[in-house]
Amino acid sequence: MKARMEFRTVIRLVLVWIGISFHIMLLVNCAKIPDGWTADGSLDSSLPLTLRIYKHHVEMNNGIVKLQLSNPSGLITGVGYGGIENVLEYRYKETRRGYWDIVWSNPKTRNGFFSTLESTNFKVIAKTKNHIEVSFTKTWNSSLGDKAPPLNIDKRFIMLRGVSGFYSYAIFEHLKGWPDLNIDEARIAFKLHQNMFHYMAVSDNLQRIMPTDYDRTRGQVLDYKEAVLLTNPANSTLKRQVDDKYQYSYESKDNHVHGWISSSPRVGFWVITPSDEFRAGGPVKQDLTSHVGPTSLAIFFSGHYAGPNFGVKLRNGEAWKKVFGPVFIYMNSDSGNKPISLWEDAKQQMAIETKKWPYDFPSSKDIPRANQRGAISGRLLIHDRYINRSLIPAKSAYIGLAPPGDVGSWQEDTKGYQFWTQTDEKGHFTIKNIREGRYNLYGWVPGIMGDYKYGNDVIIKPGTQTTVGDIVYDPPRNGPTLWEIGIPDRSAAEFFVPDPNPKLMTNLHINGTEKFRQYGLWDRYTDLYPTHDLVYTVGTSDYRKDWFFAHVNRKVGVHDYKPTTWQISFDLRNVIRTGTYTLRLALASANYGEIQVRMNNPYSRRPQFTTRRIGRDNAIARHGIHGLYSLYSVKFSGFQLVNGRNTIYLKQSRDEGPFIGIMYDYIRFEGPSQEYYH
Ligand SMILES: *[C@@H]1O[C@H](CO)[C@@H](O)[C@H](O)[C@H]1NC(C)=O
Ligand SMILES: *[C@@H]1O[C@H](CO)[C@@H](O)[C@H](O)[C@H]1NC(C)=O
Repeated sequence: MKARMEFRTVIRLVLVWIGISFHIMLLVNCAKIPDGWTADGSLDSSLPLTLRIYKHHVEMNNGIVKLQLSNPSGLITGVGYGGIENVLEYRYKETRRGYWDIVWSNPKTRNGFFSTLESTNFKVIAKTKNHIEVSFTKTWNSSLGDKAPPLNIDKRFIMLRGVSGFYSYAIFEHLKGWPDLNIDEARIAFKLHQNMFHYMAVSDNLQRIMPTDYDRTRGQVLDYKEAVLLTNPANSTLKRQVDDKYQYSYESKDNHVHGWISSSPRVGFWVITPSDEFRAGGPVKQDLTSHVGPTSLAIFFSGHYAGPNFGVKLRNGEAWKKVFGPVFIYMNSDSGNKPISLWEDAKQQMAIETKKWPYDFPSSKDIPRANQRGAISGRLLIHDRYINRSLIPAKSAYIGLAPPGDVGSWQEDTKGYQFWTQTDEKGHFTIKNIREGRYNLYGWVPGIMGDYKYGNDVIIKPGTQTTVGDIVYDPPRNGPTLWEIGIPDRSAAEFFVPDPNPKLMTNLHINGTEKFRQYGLWDRYTDLYPTHDLVYTVGTSDYRKDWFFAHVNRKVGVHDYKPTTWQISFDLRNVIRTGTYTLRLALASANYGEIQVRMNNPYSRRPQFTTRRIGRDNAIARHGIHGLYSLYSVKFSGFQLVNGRNTIYLKQSRDEGPFIGIMYDYIRFEGPSQEYYH
């Protein structure tokens, strides 16, 4: 009896072993195109859509793409395509190939945790001939204590018949009365097959052959661990180039498709984000896209280019629920030998997905359909009598709905949904497909300083179009412009962006407008201004050449930096002694910097004005051309000014290292209000 049982066990073990070996064979045998699949095969929507549920896996297959998920944790363990068993890095553990993740903390203990949100329940939500949707949930209760984030998570995956990819979204919910929680980051990460994917495309301009993770491990770490000088890469053309994932960041409005191309077989893997409504921080919030790994990310929010305070903060038992996604993971292939065609095809698919938004196929009632959404329209005008006595149409203005808050609060909002558009030439706008709810209407106008907010709350109801008619933005203005530096557009891009140090270049194939993506530009200030700081003379200097894009410290030793003081010299005539003059400082970024303002006396003990220490957006180190926007106004009495040459001293007084500083967006000096002396 005993012997027979042992015999059975042995048989069982042998069978399991054969199963595992077979599985391994399939995984290893992944770079070959099997029969029945041509490299440029068109999609066959007659192929059946199947769902297979195994003890430890769930597999969705539409004959084009095969998605394998772990059961019940809901991790993405395999993405098969065109006979390739797995385009993810199958040599990684199943828990590290593709996953939703968050970084969270308990605000009391402040310990941060990375969690891949492994679920405990699997459920089939929908299964028809054309549509499969599955759900992986994880629910919190107080017995889990503070080792797990107090959140209910529902991760969904959808596969449609005849569609070359799959969709994923998740619903995060924090119930009333639950413990306080910070969520600092939420995203989906994909780790792709390292032998396949070498070419990365994140925009029309920014696409290239990339180094490998292994190349990075053999390189030299530069000023921080993400930046590596490639000293011995496998592809020698990449030698002596810098690699840093932050070089590939994009603003949400320009980050709707990015991914990787394999040259043999010719396959593309793309992350398509069809809407910005579930992203945080508005249209110009920047974040990572794809980078060395090969890695592709769908980031819903993170503190990048915004700071550690940017995140979902839930306090005092606040109830909160938000849907992230769906995003679309798209796979394509062709037989050509130019990577560009797969990129062009991915862009077309992105346009198709964007047009289909809001999707009508997700099953969750938390994703309203088009007919359950509302719209708003109106026209934005600008009232600035020092530009024009009449109202000016706000051309190409950004205008959007975000949760109620202060002027400009949308740029730090992470909890709600946002809906943005741009006005036309005449200032008209219509925002469609807005979720029901209470919002504020916010905006800004390229070329005009400051932030707009409409005075009343806006209530959006399903199936209705609200109109606000003509609305007027009164930008900050005390008097006529005496001089200005830059363009008020929330970015420092128009200023002088230096060439990188030739020893620290990245061959990004970008044109001059994106030079800011290069590594190490902070130290170029010291190269350009080794002993004396920047002096800008109104009337003769040109901000495109003479105004460095970031107000940083001067490097005086290996780890030693000194504050810098920039000067703006300008001539005045007929100073109105009793008048009030206004200096406007619009900042595009701040990172632990402090700007002190002095007029005509750099040595005055007390500055006329200080921003105090502001900002933690880290845009200087991360090659951003802006972080978060802020605006300061400084008033001077005419008694402080002289007829003839005056000088404003701008001192960045915090000297703790290379990444401390600010970026200006725009500076303006206004004379006294004209009513004053008329
Ligand atoms: C090495 O990279 C260059 C571009 O930097 C590319 O043209 C070339 O094909 C690559 N070589 C290999 C073997 O991938
Ligand atoms: C340079 O790049 C920018 C940003 O991608 C793009 O808008 C512009 O058209 C490009 N200019 C040229 C001359 O290629």
